[in-house]
Amino acid sequence: MEKSILMIGGTGYLGSKVIRELLHRGVKVSAMVREGSDAKGLEAKGVRVITGDLTKPETILPALKDIDVVITTAIGYSQRKIGDSLKTVDDRGNQNLIDAISVSTVKRLVFTSILTAEKARDVPHFWQKKLIEDYMVKKKIHYVSLRPGAFLDQNPQQDQVSAGLKQGKIKVFGSSVNKCSNILTDDLAKYLAMAAMDDSIPDCQIDIGMTEPVNARMMAQYATEYTGKPVKVSVMPWWIMGTLFSVMGLFKPFMRDLKKMFGYFLTGQYIADTTLQQKYFGEVPTVKDSMFRYFEQIGLPKAMN
Ligand SMILES: NC(=O)c1ccc[n+]([C@@H]2O[C@H](COP(=O)([O-])OP(=O)(O)OC[C@H]3O[C@@H](n4cnc5c(N)ncnc54)[C@H](OP(=O)(O)O)[C@@H]3O)[C@@H](O)[C@H]2O)c1
Repeated sequence: MEKSILMIGGTGYLGSKVIRELLHRGVKVSAMVREGSDAKGLEAKGVRVITGDLTKPETILPALKDIDVVITTAIGYSQRKIGDSLKTVDDRGNQNLIDAISVSTVKRLVFTSILTAEKARDVPHFWQKKLIEDYMVKKKIHYVSLRPGAFLDQNPQQDQVSAGLKQGKIKVFGSSVNKCSNILTDDLAKYLAMAAMDDSIPDCQIDIGMTEPVNARMMAQYATEYTGKPVKVSVMPWWIMGTLFSVMGLFKPFMRDLKKMFGYFLTGQYIADTTLQQKYFGEVPTVKDSMFRYFEQIGLPKAMN
């Protein structure tokens, strides 16, 4: 029987790509969208839009009526609206969602987590994902939690790398040799859609990355190969960067969280084990292919061969 899927976060950067993937697969998609948020684009694509808000428990259960699977990419820490926060949305909001699912006919939640969240006790927005994974187990709901590495293509409004690449340079914090796992959001969106549609995937957490972790030097080499022009790496020492983030943290508390995140990256633990990714979603994307797709996406001029 055809599945009915509810997307939460469908107006966001990753969520809109998940909806595109679901529609491409001919799935019946609904989206739970907050009052006042712009859902016109979704409606134009034939998505059924239901008003609801993770921070308003009374709006969630009605949105789950006749839904088989829920996918969420929603977060409060990106602070798209006043009042959005880790506490209100990622913590309480996700718990509200899980509570509602536990008393509904929904068969599974596909949750967007973060790679190695359980190791990053000091990074609040990482650790919160681990707490929510624990809560899904506690409430005994069926779930698949995808744990992606850092997005290779950040939301264009936050992408610090592409402007530098276009000028032939990559600026990094702390180290040019430290490796981390990354993933393109196009690939992650495809996996989230697949996880929602494939009933044979058991309750589990799945690390998501490319065939190997990368560092800034590797990215510069691929960019040099792609453009045919040298791309250089410059490193901002960790102490300068840490001080900068601490000062900014006085005004924007999330900057303190980001400082801890970059510190955690330098521990070398932000690395994906892609065994389950390969098992459930097929061939893991190679670094070169992912990098070249990213360069094409940001309009980096390609060398004429
Ligand atoms: N960036 C990375 O490198 C990275 C790495 C690993 C994992 N992740 C994870 O990937 C996901 C990224 O999402 P994204 O980039 O698409 O985020 P985004 O663009 O900031 O979108 C956030 C979405 O959440 C929705 N939302 C916020 N509060 C809500 C609430 N109370 N009720 C219902 N919906 C609410 C927003 O809706 P409105 O339109 O109403 O604001 C929006 O659709 C997150 O789960 C993040 O933790 C990111």
